[in-house]
Amino acid sequence: MLSRRRFLVTSALAAGAGAVPSTGLAAEKTRRAATEDLRDWGAVRRQFDLDPRYIHTGLFFLSSHPRPVREAIERYRQQLEANPLHTVEHLVFTGPPDYMPAKVCNAIAAYIGGSADDIALTQNTTTGLALIYQGLPLKPGDEILTTAHDHFVHHESIRLASERSGANWRKVALFDSHDALSADEMVERLRKAIRPETRVLGVTWVHSSTGLKLPIRRIADALAEVNRERPPERRVLLVVDGVHGLGAESPDVVAMGMDAFAAGTHKWMFGPRGTGFVWARPELWSVMRPLMPSTSSAELFFAWASGKPPAQPARATWFSPGGFQAFEHSWAVPEAFAFHQAIGPQRITERIHALNAQAREGLAKMTHVTLYTPRAPEIAGGMVCFDVKGMTQQQVVQRLFERNRILASTTPYAVSYARVSFGIQNTPDEVEKTLAAVRELAGATASVSGG
Ligand SMILES: Cc1ncc(COP(=O)(O)O)c(C=O)c1O
Repeated sequence: MLSRRRFLVTSALAAGAGAVPSTGLAAEKTRRAATEDLRDWGAVRRQFDLDPRYIHTGLFFLSSHPRPVREAIERYRQQLEANPLHTVEHLVFTGPPDYMPAKVCNAIAAYIGGSADDIALTQNTTTGLALIYQGLPLKPGDEILTTAHDHFVHHESIRLASERSGANWRKVALFDSHDALSADEMVERLRKAIRPETRVLGVTWVHSSTGLKLPIRRIADALAEVNRERPPERRVLLVVDGVHGLGAESPDVVAMGMDAFAAGTHKWMFGPRGTGFVWARPELWSVMRPLMPSTSSAELFFAWASGKPPAQPARATWFSPGGFQAFEHSWAVPEAFAFHQAIGPQRITERIHALNAQAREGLAKMTHVTLYTPRAPEIAGGMVCFDVKGMTQQQVVQRLFERNRILASTTPYAVSYARVSFGIQNTPDEVEKTLAAVRELAGATASVSGG
């Protein structure tokens, strides 16, 4: 770990404890301020600077920063404005106790389980998926299996990696009809789709196309059975795009049993925009190839300085994309995890599920609405996707905005739906208002024209 040594220090002053203000005390102050009153959902909502004129049903899309995150960003920003050289040297290029990347990894590991040493820091989910698929030791003839329902950036990461490695990729549909969705069938379909040449199974925890939530633990168990018959080099690896589960579902991510997990922390986690991570098993990191230079690893730097290749095996820090970054954002990630911990991850999950179940059940009763999100809570995430008879999804979103000041979204997929999502900033009353607005659309369809 870099935190055990100093490296790249260009100024003797950089190591001086007084060179930049200490961040620990200020962070503690923010944490205390943020935890006041958080048992009350109204107080939680007030932590966000959301425009009060709207009902926000798309807050999973990109984080609005809660107060402790805003304050941390501002604190780091001021330090960087005042003295960028010493701030960066002190917080990035010197060892403990102030080495920020380690603090960020520790905060993430404390939440998801597992070791901070197995986390690479990224700017978003996209970068994480790319560095996983590009890093895997794939060769011509190997196969990456994925589903027909993943996000564009997931499929693109696979396509680009297979073009470079010569591996093939194939998509399997998890269901034929939205009415007949079951965890058993999805697991069975995936298990049956695995071929002798399959090396990777890439899935999405919560689908942003429909709100479907996959039973990741069960998929991992099914793969473990397949792998029992295989030698280590032919194991099928489970890769998960977890961005819409992280911060909304149970935080016990590592315990779900995947091999690699990528997520942005800037959606349900309310982390700073432009932050994310990859967690992978250490034995997987050790056989992967980094995609780009990392500046988070002392051994890489010292190997370069001594003109030698780095001593294997590779480890997570070798994979964090390097170079200068929006440091005030990446350093404020722990505040987002502290905010979640202060509210209580289980309370957060229960609240998100209760609000979205209220929305699903309300929409399911409307004869002019087709609901695509499963009603069964065990396979439903924190978003609800639907169509209104006689209207395009864009028209639905536009009408909700113009008439009811409801901010909804359309799903960015080949087949697109209208989508609402209720997070911990929302209220049951806002769900009811949204349902009432969709109910009104029954009579409105005749008057809608054009796209
Ligand atoms: C399922 C899924 N994966 C990945 C992404 C991309 O996330 P990021 O912007 O963090 O790269 C999105 C975007 O919303 C998504 O819905």
